[in-house]
Amino acid sequence: MIKNVAVIGTGVIGAGWIIRCLAHNKKVVAFDKDLKLKKRLIAEIKRTWPYVKKLFNKKKLNLKNFKYVTSIEEALKEADFIQECATENYKIKTKLMNIIGKYSKLNAIISSSSSGLLPTRIYSKCKNPARAMIGHPFNPVYMCPGVEVVPGKKTKKVFLNKANKFYKSISMNPIMVKKELPGYLADRLQEALWREALHIVNEGYASTKDLDRSIEDGPGKAGMKHMLEQFGPALKLPWTKLKAPKLSKKLSSRVISGTKQQTKGKSVAMISNIRDEYLVNLQKLRKKYENKIRK
Ligand SMILES: NC(=O)c1ccc[n+]([C@@H]2O[C@H](COP(=O)([O-])OP(=O)(O)OC[C@H]3O[C@@H](n4cnc5c(N)ncnc54)[C@H](O)[C@@H]3O)[C@@H](O)[C@H]2O)c1
Repeated sequence: MIKNVAVIGTGVIGAGWIIRCLAHNKKVVAFDKDLKLKKRLIAEIKRTWPYVKKLFNKKKLNLKNFKYVTSIEEALKEADFIQECATENYKIKTKLMNIIGKYSKLNAIISSSSSGLLPTRIYSKCKNPARAMIGHPFNPVYMCPGVEVVPGKKTKKVFLNKANKFYKSISMNPIMVKKELPGYLADRLQEALWREALHIVNEGYASTKDLDRSIEDGPGKAGMKHMLEQFGPALKLPWTKLKAPKLSKKLSSRVISGTKQQTKGKSVAMISNIRDEYLVNLQKLRKKYENKIRK
């Protein structure tokens, strides 16, 4: 079983992977081109530990398994699994994958956290692209179990299987996408919802608060047969707009001020704590019912 992990890029997503891996006794070496991030990262590990501990039934956080290094070469030399979490941009990632390919062990798996870039393109200059893929997580990574595994044109099955096993070993449910497509699965669905929500706010049909409640308190309770019979014909209208609205100043300020009002002055850290506590309980509940449905 893979034990040595390197995380490259320690922003929001990199921090999430580090926390999840440490909670599963992996040895993690981290690197970010911005060395100042170490302090913020340690603070985030400490903030999240009470929730992570509860979710995975762990006793102690072993920080001896964690190393923050100042060169990418050092981060990669022992790693058997490399999770890349740098800025979402073809140029940055393609260049970075070339460096990662050069300094990593030849058969170490490279998995990018990208939210929608094509793996064939970002690994076009990477040594041995057969071992390279996307492992797209969801935020917060230490709480959400989903990870979309997307192969590039040169990725070999043997490495996809190894990645699947690795992700399962850190309590994730890998979603194995058969071939690459921009935006993968979940973000394409989310984009459709997000686009419609923006149209609704833009045209003044509802507040951001009521829009949120239309999801929280609303859909998803009917079966597929009923759904297709009742709502199938509406697909031809169609209800939804396929083009996104222009992100005008007016629309942005409506979304920002609406959601700011909803927070009622709570800080991001306060909201993150509430969210994490909620997600721990939600996932424990989900496990109980999921076993009943999927058995
Ligand atoms: N934020 C989300 O909700 C989310 C969800 C899933 C996936 N992702 C994906 O995860 C990746 C990281 O996103 P994020 O939200 O953590 O961004 P972020 O801006 O918080 O962090 C990116 C980090 O990458 C570092 N970086 C940039 N170039 C680097 C390089 N060459 N070498 C080392 N470090 C480098 C930056 O210094 C920064 O700390 C992106 O590909 C993004 O699309 C984000």
